[in-house]
Amino acid sequence: MDFIEGRPIESLETASQAQRDAAARTIIDLVLREMFQFGLMQIDPNFANYRYQEDSGRIVLLDFGAAREVGSRTAEGYRRLLRAGLDGDLAEVRDAAIAAGFLGVGAVARHRSRIDAMIGVILREMNRDGPFDFGDRQFVELLRDDGMAIAQDRDAWHVPPADVLYVQRKISGTALLAAWLKARVNVREMIMPWLEMGRDVASPEAAGTVW
Ligand SMILES: Nc1ncnc2c1ncn2[C@@H]1O[C@H](COP(=O)(O)OP(=O)(O)O)[C@@H](O)[C@H]1O
Ligand SMILES: [Mg+2]
Repeated sequence: MDFIEGRPIESLETASQAQRDAAARTIIDLVLREMFQFGLMQIDPNFANYRYQEDSGRIVLLDFGAAREVGSRTAEGYRRLLRAGLDGDLAEVRDAAIAAGFLGVGAVARHRSRIDAMIGVILREMNRDGPFDFGDRQFVELLRDDGMAIAQDRDAWHVPPADVLYVQRKISGTALLAAWLKARVNVREMIMPWLEMGRDVASPEAAGTVW
Protein backbone atom coordinates (compact mmCIF):
# COMPACT_ATOMS: atom_id res chain seq x y z
CA MET A 1 0.00 0.00 0.00
CA ASP A 2 1.43 3.36 -1.04
CA PHE A 3 0.75 6.73 0.44
CA ILE A 4 -0.78 8.88 -2.31
CA GLU A 5 -0.18 12.61 -2.19
CA GLY A 6 -3.18 14.81 -2.54
CA ARG A 7 -5.27 17.54 -0.99
CA PRO A 8 -8.80 17.15 0.30
CA ILE A 9 -11.30 17.17 -2.56
CA GLU A 10 -12.94 20.11 -0.77
CA SER A 11 -9.94 22.24 -1.77
CA LEU A 12 -11.59 22.41 -5.21
CA GLU A 13 -14.23 24.72 -3.74
CA THR A 14 -12.28 27.78 -4.86
CA ALA A 15 -11.17 26.28 -8.20
CA SER A 16 -12.44 27.55 -11.55
CA GLN A 17 -15.66 26.25 -13.08
CA ALA A 18 -13.58 24.38 -15.69
CA GLN A 19 -11.50 22.64 -13.00
CA ARG A 20 -14.57 21.67 -10.99
CA ASP A 21 -16.29 20.39 -14.13
CA ALA A 22 -13.23 18.33 -15.03
CA ALA A 23 -13.05 16.82 -11.53
CA ALA A 24 -16.73 15.88 -11.57
CA ARG A 25 -16.36 14.43 -15.06
CA THR A 26 -13.48 12.25 -13.88
CA ILE A 27 -15.45 11.01 -10.90
CA ILE A 28 -18.55 10.26 -13.00
CA ASP A 29 -16.43 8.56 -15.67
CA LEU A 30 -15.07 6.27 -12.96
CA VAL A 31 -18.58 5.30 -11.83
CA LEU A 32 -19.47 4.35 -15.42
CA ARG A 33 -16.29 2.29 -15.74
CA GLU A 34 -16.80 0.57 -12.38
CA MET A 35 -20.27 -0.42 -13.48
CA PHE A 36 -19.85 -1.24 -17.15
CA GLN A 37 -16.16 -2.08 -17.56
CA PHE A 38 -14.57 -3.29 -14.32
CA GLY A 39 -17.60 -4.95 -12.73
CA LEU A 40 -16.11 -3.76 -9.44
CA MET A 41 -17.18 -0.65 -7.57
CA GLN A 42 -15.78 1.29 -4.62
CA ILE A 43 -19.07 1.92 -2.85
CA ASP A 44 -18.07 4.41 -0.17
CA PRO A 45 -18.26 7.79 -1.92
CA ASN A 46 -17.76 9.92 1.17
CA PHE A 47 -15.76 13.07 0.44
CA ALA A 48 -12.76 11.97 2.55
CA ASN A 49 -12.18 9.07 0.15
CA TYR A 50 -11.52 11.48 -2.72
CA ARG A 51 -8.39 13.57 -2.89
CA TYR A 52 -7.13 16.03 -5.46
CA GLN A 53 -3.66 16.44 -6.96
CA GLU A 54 -3.47 20.07 -7.89
CA ASP A 55 -0.46 19.91 -10.23
CA SER A 56 -1.88 17.20 -12.49
CA GLY A 57 -5.62 17.70 -11.85
CA ARG A 58 -5.82 13.98 -11.02
CA ILE A 59 -8.35 12.65 -8.56
CA VAL A 60 -7.22 10.07 -6.01
CA LEU A 61 -9.73 7.48 -4.83
CA LEU A 62 -9.04 5.69 -1.52
CA ASP A 63 -10.56 2.96 0.60
CA PHE A 64 -10.77 -0.16 -1.52
CA GLY A 65 -11.93 -2.16 1.45
CA ALA A 66 -15.28 -0.82 0.26
CA ALA A 67 -15.03 -2.46 -3.18
CA ARG A 68 -17.85 -4.77 -4.28
CA GLU A 69 -18.52 -6.74 -7.41
CA VAL A 70 -21.30 -5.44 -9.62
CA GLY A 71 -22.91 -8.43 -11.28
CA SER A 72 -23.57 -8.28 -15.01
CA ARG A 73 -27.32 -8.57 -14.35
CA THR A 74 -27.19 -5.43 -12.26
CA ALA A 75 -25.10 -3.66 -14.90
CA GLU A 76 -27.56 -4.74 -17.58
CA GLY A 77 -30.44 -3.50 -15.43
CA TYR A 78 -28.85 -0.05 -15.23
CA ARG A 79 -28.03 -0.11 -18.92
CA ARG A 80 -31.69 -0.76 -19.74
CA LEU A 81 -32.80 1.94 -17.31
CA LEU A 82 -30.37 4.51 -18.73
CA ARG A 83 -31.24 3.64 -22.32
CA ALA A 84 -34.96 4.08 -21.58
CA GLY A 85 -34.16 7.36 -19.83
CA LEU A 86 -32.18 8.77 -22.73
CA ASP A 87 -34.94 7.62 -25.11
CA GLY A 88 -37.42 9.57 -22.98
CA ASP A 89 -39.57 6.44 -22.78
CA LEU A 90 -41.54 6.79 -19.54
CA ALA A 91 -43.27 3.40 -19.59
CA GLU A 92 -39.99 1.61 -20.36
CA VAL A 93 -38.23 3.47 -17.51
CA ARG A 94 -40.97 2.26 -15.16
CA ASP A 95 -40.69 -1.34 -16.40
CA ALA A 96 -36.88 -1.27 -16.30
CA ALA A 97 -36.95 0.14 -12.77
CA ILE A 98 -39.23 -2.69 -11.65
CA ALA A 99 -37.09 -5.30 -13.43
CA ALA A 100 -33.94 -3.97 -11.74
CA GLY A 101 -35.66 -4.20 -8.35
CA PHE A 102 -35.40 -0.46 -8.07
CA LEU A 103 -39.14 0.02 -7.77
CA GLY A 104 -41.55 -2.39 -6.10
CA VAL A 105 -44.57 -3.65 -8.02
CA GLY A 106 -46.71 -2.71 -5.02
CA ALA A 107 -45.54 0.89 -5.09
CA VAL A 108 -46.30 1.13 -8.79
CA ALA A 109 -49.74 -0.42 -8.35
CA ARG A 110 -50.64 1.98 -5.55
CA HIS A 111 -48.93 5.18 -6.75
CA ARG A 112 -48.63 4.91 -10.48
CA SER A 113 -49.52 8.52 -11.28
CA ARG A 114 -47.10 9.88 -8.67
CA ILE A 115 -44.34 7.59 -9.90
CA ASP A 116 -45.01 8.56 -13.51
CA ALA A 117 -44.91 12.25 -12.55
CA MET A 118 -41.53 11.71 -10.86
CA ILE A 119 -40.15 9.81 -13.85
CA GLY A 120 -41.42 12.64 -16.05
CA VAL A 121 -39.45 15.21 -14.03
CA ILE A 122 -36.30 13.10 -14.24
CA LEU A 123 -36.71 12.53 -17.99
CA ARG A 124 -37.09 16.27 -18.60
CA GLU A 125 -33.95 16.98 -16.58
CA MET A 126 -31.83 14.29 -18.14
CA ASN A 127 -32.82 15.07 -21.71
CA ARG A 128 -32.28 18.79 -21.63
CA ASP A 129 -29.71 20.01 -24.17
CA GLY A 130 -26.23 20.81 -22.95
CA PRO A 131 -24.47 20.00 -19.70
CA PHE A 132 -26.35 19.01 -16.56
CA ASP A 133 -25.97 21.67 -13.89
CA PHE A 134 -25.46 19.74 -10.65
CA GLY A 135 -25.56 22.97 -8.64
CA ASP A 136 -29.16 23.65 -9.68
CA ARG A 137 -31.31 21.66 -7.23
CA GLN A 138 -34.71 23.00 -8.33
CA PHE A 139 -35.88 19.64 -9.67
CA VAL A 140 -35.45 18.11 -6.19
CA GLU A 141 -38.38 20.31 -5.06
CA LEU A 142 -40.49 18.89 -7.88
CA LEU A 143 -39.83 15.34 -6.67
CA ARG A 144 -40.24 15.94 -2.96
CA ASP A 145 -44.02 15.85 -2.45
CA ASP A 146 -44.65 12.74 -4.53
CA GLY A 147 -41.59 11.03 -3.06
CA MET A 148 -42.69 11.77 0.50
CA ALA A 149 -46.25 10.59 -0.15
CA ILE A 150 -45.01 7.25 -1.48
CA ALA A 151 -42.46 6.85 1.33
CA GLN A 152 -45.20 7.34 3.93
CA ASP A 153 -47.30 4.49 2.56
CA ARG A 154 -46.01 1.38 4.34
CA ASP A 155 -47.81 -0.91 1.94
CA ALA A 156 -45.68 0.49 -0.85
CA TRP A 157 -42.37 -0.22 0.90
CA HIS A 158 -39.92 -2.31 -1.01
CA VAL A 159 -36.31 -3.21 -0.35
CA PRO A 160 -34.19 -3.27 -3.51
CA PRO A 161 -31.60 -6.05 -3.88
CA ALA A 162 -28.31 -5.39 -2.04
CA ASP A 163 -26.27 -4.66 -5.15
CA VAL A 164 -28.81 -2.09 -6.37
CA LEU A 165 -28.62 -0.47 -2.93
CA TYR A 166 -24.87 -0.11 -2.96
CA VAL A 167 -24.73 1.04 -6.57
CA GLN A 168 -27.35 3.66 -5.64
CA ARG A 169 -25.28 4.69 -2.65
CA LYS A 170 -22.36 5.27 -5.00
CA ILE A 171 -24.48 7.16 -7.54
CA SER A 172 -26.12 9.42 -4.96
CA GLY A 173 -22.78 10.12 -3.25
CA THR A 174 -21.28 10.99 -6.61
CA ALA A 175 -24.19 13.31 -7.44
CA LEU A 176 -23.80 14.96 -4.02
CA LEU A 177 -20.11 15.60 -4.68
CA ALA A 178 -20.87 16.99 -8.16
CA ALA A 179 -23.57 19.21 -6.62
CA TRP A 180 -21.14 20.41 -3.97
CA LEU A 181 -18.67 21.23 -6.76
CA LYS A 182 -21.51 23.05 -8.62
CA ALA A 183 -20.22 21.20 -11.65
CA ARG A 184 -21.72 21.29 -15.13
CA VAL A 185 -21.23 18.04 -16.95
CA ASN A 186 -22.83 16.59 -20.05
CA VAL A 187 -23.67 13.30 -18.39
CA ARG A 188 -25.86 12.28 -21.32
CA GLU A 189 -22.91 12.31 -23.69
CA MET A 190 -20.82 10.39 -21.19
CA ILE A 191 -23.42 7.66 -20.77
CA MET A 192 -24.17 7.12 -24.44
CA PRO A 193 -21.06 5.16 -25.49
CA TRP A 194 -21.61 2.70 -22.62
CA LEU A 195 -25.08 1.85 -23.79
CA GLU A 196 -23.89 0.61 -27.14
CA MET A 197 -21.73 -2.23 -25.88
CA GLY A 198 -21.48 -5.12 -23.46
CA ARG A 199 -18.91 -5.11 -20.65
CA ASP A 200 -16.65 -7.69 -22.28
CA VAL A 201 -16.84 -6.10 -25.70
CA ALA A 202 -15.08 -2.79 -25.42
CA SER A 203 -14.59 0.54 -23.72
CA PRO A 204 -15.28 4.05 -25.02
CA GLU A 205 -11.57 4.34 -25.93
CA ALA A 206 -11.97 1.42 -28.27
CA ALA A 207 -15.07 3.07 -29.70
CA GLY A 208 -13.07 6.25 -30.24
CA THR A 209 -14.57 8.31 -27.43
CA VAL A 210 -12.13 9.48 -24.80
CA TRP A 211 -13.14 11.72 -21.93
N1 LIG B 1 -3.07 5.40 0.48
C1 LIG B 1 -3.35 6.54 1.11
N2 LIG B 1 -2.73 7.68 0.74
C2 LIG B 1 -3.00 8.83 1.36
N3 LIG B 1 -3.86 8.97 2.36
C3 LIG B 1 -4.53 7.89 2.77
C4 LIG B 1 -4.32 6.61 2.18
N4 LIG B 1 -5.11 5.72 2.79
C5 LIG B 1 -5.78 6.40 3.73
N5 LIG B 1 -5.44 7.71 3.74
C6 LIG B 1 -5.99 8.75 4.64
O1 LIG B 1 -6.61 8.14 5.75
C7 LIG B 1 -8.04 8.36 5.76
C8 LIG B 1 -8.80 7.10 6.18
O2 LIG B 1 -8.45 6.00 5.33
P1 LIG B 1 -9.54 5.09 4.62
O3 LIG B 1 -8.81 4.05 3.82
O4 LIG B 1 -10.49 5.94 3.86
O5 LIG B 1 -10.22 4.37 5.86
P2 LIG B 1 -11.68 4.45 6.50
O6 LIG B 1 -12.26 3.11 6.21
O7 LIG B 1 -11.39 4.72 7.93
O8 LIG B 1 -12.45 5.56 5.84
C9 LIG B 1 -8.35 8.80 4.30
O9 LIG B 1 -9.51 9.59 4.23
C10 LIG B 1 -7.08 9.56 3.95
O10 LIG B 1 -7.10 10.86 4.47
MG1 LIG C 1 -12.46 6.41 4.08
